[in-house]
Amino acid sequence: MIDRFFHTEDVNSENNNTPLDPHNIPTHIAIIMDGNGRWAKNKGLPRIAGHREGMKVINKVVEKADELGVKYLTLYAFSTENWKRPKTEVDFLMKLPERFLSKELPKLQKNNVKVRIMGDESLLPSHTVQAVRKAVEETSDNTGLLLNFALNYGSRHELVQMMKKTGEDIASGSINPEDIDEEMVSKRLLSNGLPDPDLLIRTSGEIRLSNFMLWQLAYSEFWFTEVLWPDFKDKDLIEAIHTFQQRKRRYGGV
Ligand code: IPE
Ligand code: IPE
Ligand code: MG
Repeated sequence: MIDRFFHTEDVNSENNNTPLDPHNIPTHIAIIMDGNGRWAKNKGLPRIAGHREGMKVINKVVEKADELGVKYLTLYAFSTENWKRPKTEVDFLMKLPERFLSKELPKLQKNNVKVRIMGDESLLPSHTVQAVRKAVEETSDNTGLLLNFALNYGSRHELVQMMKKTGEDIASGSINPEDIDEEMVSKRLLSNGLPDPDLLIRTSGEIRLSNFMLWQLAYSEFWFTEVLWPDFKDKDLIEAIHTFQQRKRRYGGV
């Protein structure tokens, strides 16, 4: 695909030879891990094989991001719209957090990684919630990279829930409409406590947000790649950060 999103500054053969500027590493990177199904299809495998392979990439990316000095990593693992998929695929996806954590939790511990979850837990199967909560609890004292899993996350759903709660708080008198400002809105979202992402990465060639962090990504830099998530390598992360470092963030200024 020839597309200006990919083939101007973004694919720069010099990128991987120039060292990264250690003073300009994105604090928070958010990734839409996409393309597992197509990866599997290309290999004549069932879609779930792509999810299994995609899961293996996560720890490598976590370790590399940590090594580079990234402080927050948000991974889009399951959207509020992904329930539309066939039941067998959804069931498999709901088992992935357990599989991932039972295998990788010791390594996450060793690397001082703190696990967090962002999404509507009420609709998740209890086995999924239990596995995630265990990881969140066991890593709660860790002080290294914060690994934030967006699981049953949808930005519009998050905003609707936030507005309902805020409406209730106004009705009960605990806040006044005049108190509402951008900071309060941010604090009432599921990403409370995390800075907005500096860099958004989406794999698999799709150029859309698919209901991901609409409020929080207002001033993030976007980087798209055709690489399918199971093929995502350290060099791709480095290239994304290189591109980020060449961007000029103006936030509406000059
Ligand atoms: C991303 O890969 C993983 C999830 C959405 C859970 P996909 O499953 O969306 O893969 P494609 O887009 O069909 O290739
Ligand atoms: C976005 O990918 C959700 C995750 C990666 C978890 P999708 O594959 O669900 O998005 P669409 O359907 O292509 O927009
Ligand atoms: Mg997809």
